[in-house]
Parts: sequence; C-alpha cells; structure tokens
Amino acid sequence: MTTTLVLGGTGKTGRRIVQRLQARGRPVRVGTPSGTPPFDWTDEDSWPAPLDGVGSVYVTYYPDLAVPGAAEAVAAFADLAVARGVRRLVLLSGRGEQGALAGEQALRDSGADWTIVRSAFMAQNFNESFFLEPIRAGEVAFPAGEDLAEPFIDADDIADVAVAALTGDGHVGQLYEVTGPRLLGWGQAVAEIAAAVGRPIRYLPVSLEEYASLLIADQVPADYVKMLTEVFTEVLDGRNAHLGDGVQRALGRPPRDFADYARDTAATGIWDG
Ligand SMILES: NC(=O)c1ccc[n+]([C@@H]2O[C@H](COP(=O)([O-])OP(=O)(O)OC[C@H]3O[C@@H](n4cnc5c(N)ncnc54)[C@H](OP(=O)(O)O)[C@@H]3O)[C@@H](O)[C@H]2O)c1
Repeated sequence: MTTTLVLGGTGKTGRRIVQRLQARGRPVRVGTPSGTPPFDWTDEDSWPAPLDGVGSVYVTYYPDLAVPGAAEAVAAFADLAVARGVRRLVLLSGRGEQGALAGEQALRDSGADWTIVRSAFMAQNFNESFFLEPIRAGEVAFPAGEDLAEPFIDADDIADVAVAALTGDGHVGQLYEVTGPRLLGWGQAVAEIAAAVGRPIRYLPVSLEEYASLLIADQVPADYVKMLTEVFTEVLDGRNAHLGDGVQRALGRPPRDFADYARDTAATGIWDG
C-alpha cells in the first residue's frame, strides 16, 4: 500500500484526514514545515523528499489558494508529484475566488487522477482559527453585513469527502462543491453559537478598513492581514450565497448542520471565556 501525503496535515481539514486514514490502517505522511521530512510551500527544495513512496496527495495550499503565486506553486508541485509516480491528487479549493480557479486548473492540467473539493467557509473557523478569541470575548467583528448568507461547512464533512476521493473509486475527475445544508447570515451563525454556549455574543459588521485595523491591533502579522482583507474583498459580496451538493454526491448523505456543530463544540468548553 502506498503512502498518502497530507499537506497541511496539522490544519483543520488535514488533521482530520490524517486521523481517518490512520484509523483505516493506511500509511500517512504529514506535509508541514515541521513534518519529517519537512514540506514548505515557500521552499521548492523541500518538496521532493516528502513525495518518496507516495501514491496520493491531499493538497492544501498555505496561506490561501487565492494569493498571487499559489496557482503556479500548485502547478509546479503537481507536475513534480506526477513525475515521481503519484497517481491521485485531491485539492482543497475555495468558492468564488479567481485565484482558486487557477489552482484548480493547475491540478486538472497535471495529468494526475484529480478530484477538486471546493469548500464553503468552514464552521471550524469559529473554534480552531481566527474567530475563536472573538467568540470567547463575546464580540465578533467581521466585514460582512449581518444578513450576508453563507452555507458554513463542517470540516469533518470535508475530511470525509477528501478521504473518499483519496481511497475510493468513482471520484476521479469530479469537482465537489461542498457546503453545509443551510444558508445562514453571519449574525445568525454567531447567534446560534451564543445560544449553544448560553451567553450573549454580539455580531458587529465592520468595513474592511476597520477590520484590518482591528487585526493589526490584535498583533496579527501585517502580511496575513493583507492576505485576509484581499480574500474577503473578493468573496464577501453575496456570490457564495448558494448551496452546493458536493457532500451528498460524494458520500450519498447530507452534510452536517451548523446547529449540530455549534452544540457539539459548545459542549467541549472551548468557547467558555
Ligand atoms: N478556512 C476556510 O474556511 C477555507 C475554506 C475554503 C478553502 N480553504 C483553503 O484551505 C487552505 C488551508 O487554509 P486554512 O486557513 O483552513 O488552514 P489550515 O489547513 O487549518 O492550517 C494551515 C496548515 O498549513 C500548514 N502550513 C503553514 N505554513 C506552511 C508552509 N509555509 N508550507 C506548507 N504548509 C504550511 C500548517 O502547518 P503548521 O501546523 O506546522 O503551522 C497547517 O497544517 C487554504 O488553501 C484555503 O484556501 C479554507
């Protein structure tokens, strides 16, 4: 059995994919800058070693597939992987991003057996990423109108789809647009978390400029702030306010609802101030 390389294997989707593959007894390698051997998107010399003995790769780009240079990096990595004998590539992509489309095209052009998992905004951004501290502090400021709708997806569903594509038949050449089962306004999503934790949490729509200033004040590195504001400038205009059928098509079951995510996550205590 060949090894599966999971890029971003400590991140929100990658970690879950590693766990699922290990539970099935499959050989897995974590591809991150602190992995063994290390994998770093910014250092092409680090790419060949983690590909040794690898038959399939889960590709997540860092920091975001929409940033300049991402598609070129994915193209170069995919070509290298195929040249070194990798057959199957599964790419995590984002919705409504021009740069992400170029990254997807790079995968299609690689000659590999490809699958694209084009994902909505992950629910886990509220407990494993940049929304965790605001939720704990009781106020979430974000540059999206309260009613701008988003079908938040559970990272467990993304991982299930990716593992199916990495290990099963019938997913080659498929583009799975994966979303949750329900459109929620940003204010509504925060209100559902507040209800689940049993205390008030305010949602505050702000301008992009105000949002950037808040991040800088919170010591977020300037280049990361620039990346986030560029991505949010592009996608927070209603273009993603629709449901996708990727989870149902890939797995034959509906995606998990945000209310279930909020209830189960609240029960872990992570949102307690
Ligand atoms: N978050 C969302 O809602 C969402 C939605 C759609 C698509 N996406 C896509 O998902 C991808 C991952 O974004 P995310 O925010 O969800 O992050 P994430 O996967 O939760 O975490 C980032 C991962 O990348 C690794 N990493 C950090 N710097 C790296 C480098 N220089 N080279 C290689 N790996 C590196 C990290 O390793 P360490 O643990 O060692 O730092 C970690 O495993 C992006 O391409 C984004 O476009 C995200």
